[in-house]
Amino acid sequence: MEKIPDNLLPDEIGRGLKTRWMGRPVFCYEELDSTNDAAFKLGEEGLKEGACVLAEYQRKGRGRLGRSWDSAKGKNVLLSVLLRPPLDPAHVSKVTLTAAVSAAKTLRKATGKDLGIKWPNDIIFQGRKLCGILTEMSAELDRVHFVVVGIGINVNSNPRELPPGASSLMEAAGKKMARVELVKNFLHVFEGDYERLKRGDFASIAGEWEEFSVTSGRIVVSLLDRKIEGEALGIDEEGALWIRKDNGLQERVFSGEVLRCR
Ligand code: BTN
Repeated sequence: MEKIPDNLLPDEIGRGLKTRWMGRPVFCYEELDSTNDAAFKLGEEGLKEGACVLAEYQRKGRGRLGRSWDSAKGKNVLLSVLLRPPLDPAHVSKVTLTAAVSAAKTLRKATGKDLGIKWPNDIIFQGRKLCGILTEMSAELDRVHFVVVGIGINVNSNPRELPPGASSLMEAAGKKMARVELVKNFLHVFEGDYERLKRGDFASIAGEWEEFSVTSGRIVVSLLDRKIEGEALGIDEEGALWIRKDNGLQERVFSGEVLRCR
């Protein structure tokens, strides 16, 4: 069978890329510590928003909550996007939620499968995670210098080589997926959604997020120092999750992990 090349290279990504500014430029590496670190450096060097970093392999891939993100070489997507959102640092989680909506739309279209978002930004297929997002920023108390949105998508990893609870697009779609097309489509969708956010229309993004959300009904959320249990009520303007606890009180959660949801 003919092998179709699917190399994550600037020329391949640039060919037919429909964005106006996202992914321009894009830097591609065989191997580095973390695409988020590389994009952070670009931010410090003053590159304009939209610059991206891709890698075939990360030696020190990072996940949320201090975890690592491991990904087999050459099979998946490891992407970081540099952004300079005109937002207060307290509102930067809106950028992550926007990226989750863009990823969910792109991956649903690519697989034709019903994918969901688990708060805040995991993309889920049949209860298992196939994409995670880690947003990091450089900021002062009241001013954002830049934000790096790092996206890890399990594309062509075999479920056997993934950690428990993880899935891949290949598993969801039942076939290998072209990574170059995925990256180009994601960048196009994310550019449009992020521009909508910059125009001040987080409400419509939050609406799309709610449509994808599988964080509903009874949930358990693990916070830094405790767990809380109750009914998920949805997200608010700042991307925080509201939970109605059994004692009737409502609690607003900014960061944590949903352990059980539908
Ligand atoms: C999560 O814990 O769900 C977030 C995972 C984010 C992984 C991506 S891969 C590209 C970028 N570089 C990193 O080191 N992490 C993010």
